[in-house]
Amino acid sequence: MTVTFRPLLASLGLSAALLASASAQALEVDKAIEYRQDALRVMAFQTGPLGDMVQGDIDYDAEAFALRANNLASLAHLPWEAFVEGSLQGDDHGIETDAMAAIADDMDDFNARAETLVEETATLAQMANDGEEFNALRRQMGSVVNTCRGCHDNYRDN
Ligand code: HEC
Repeated sequence: MTVTFRPLLASLGLSAALLASASAQALEVDKAIEYRQDALRVMAFQTGPLGDMVQGDIDYDAEAFALRANNLASLAHLPWEAFVEGSLQGDDHGIETDAMAAIADDMDDFNARAETLVEETATLAQMANDGEEFNALRRQMGSVVNTCRGCHDNYRDN
């Protein structure tokens, strides 16, 4: 109940009067963690069929591939703004997250990896739009997946 109620209070501009600054801060962290996990799941949902096609688990369909690749490219810039201060593992928020504290130690590297994902997915979408052949798309999809994996290996705890 409080979880759904508080954002409403905050959006009505009552936060300063009614919420201690500590709980206002906690609220932002709540929303940030939930948002980025949702965004990453949406991204993964679009990545799935692309991976299945390049691995031959489902038939390659150029139109479906281009659609998914464009969706993924549009989504790839979304999660990162939500890695806010105080929202990582070991921070005092009590919410389940796999985002390792190491992110704060090397924010530049983390952001660079996020930027690489934006670029690699944009390239994949462009190649699909240009009608490039399957083998080239498969190679580029490999770069996309390696970017996901590289960041998870360093900054995701599971
Ligand atoms: C720049 C780093 C980075 C990149 C790139 C990255 N991820 Fe992640 N991912 C994370 C972190 C950190 C978490 C943990 C987030 C949390 O629990 O708060 C995560 C979590 C996830 C989750 C679990 C979300 C949940 O809580 O249910 C999925 C699914 C996921 N990533 C998919 C992907 C896919 C697919 C790609 C590539 C297309 C990708 N990620 C690229 C850092 C990254």
